[in-house]
Amino acid sequence: MLVSGRELLKWAVERRCAVGSFNTYNLEVTRAILRAAEARQAPVFLAIGAGALDYAGFGILTAAALEAAREASVPVAVHLDHSPDVATLARCVGAGFTSVMIDGHRLPFDANIALTHEAVEAAHGVVVEAELGGVPGAEDASGSQVHDIPMTDPEEALRFVEATGVESLAIAIGNAHGVYSGEPHLDFGRLAELRDAVNVPLVLHGASGISDDDIRRCIELGVRKINVNTEIRQAFFDSVGTSIAGVKGYDVTKLLGGAVDAMAAVVEEKIGVFSGG
Ligand code: G3H
Ligand code: ZN
Repeated sequence: MLVSGRELLKWAVERRCAVGSFNTYNLEVTRAILRAAEARQAPVFLAIGAGALDYAGFGILTAAALEAAREASVPVAVHLDHSPDVATLARCVGAGFTSVMIDGHRLPFDANIALTHEAVEAAHGVVVEAELGGVPGAEDASGSQVHDIPMTDPEEALRFVEATGVESLAIAIGNAHGVYSGEPHLDFGRLAELRDAVNVPLVLHGASGISDDDIRRCIELGVRKINVNTEIRQAFFDSVGTSIAGVKGYDVTKLLGGAVDAMAAVVEEKIGVFSGG
């Protein structure tokens, strides 16, 4: 069923666990995410980034995601991930998205506040996530450094949340998008300070490549939404790459069906960890 992202955050806060947010690009990824959520009987954010909207076409991708969410037997929020501007966000709200993110982290602090505040107004009550600090790396491709990441400052985080009215905050504590170039080193002390400073759920982006133990520690320290993208894409590429030569008769359903199975396995495993397993 299609529900508000606010409801999913509340679910995670009440259970002291995290709800997974998984990025889709097409029907196969959407099916994999929702099948895994149903298998685990867990709610999920079905996330769509600007790159996916450009690739698949706004109307087709969003209609499919919204319909898939409505048909699901578990609560699903259709979420706009990393919106670069208010116009895209407003368009998604108009289309029926139930959760949106505005990403002004590259802007100076005051400009990020202004953009985010404008986004909250434009969302007309749809729950808004914003980002402060700098989770580096591209959203749709892989490769991120593990050093010199600008981290979220707890005192700024408090001022940011108060000034903007956002209901969740994506933080930078050494996390990065894509494949980490080395072992990621998360700053758990900073995470504890951020949890104490702000009274909205914290969001961890760039969760692909972070160990299950570190994920569990983040949840203990107050992270309530966790975003995964790259590891699902890796499962897709690995599955298609290994099976393409062996699939007889150019059977698209077999080739992509195998990829759906592989992606669903990744999502199921992540949901298990996020919900306390
Ligand atoms: O917004 C999406 C995530 O931050 C995904 O990051 O590709 O490193 O898993 P990831
Ligand atoms: Zn992200």
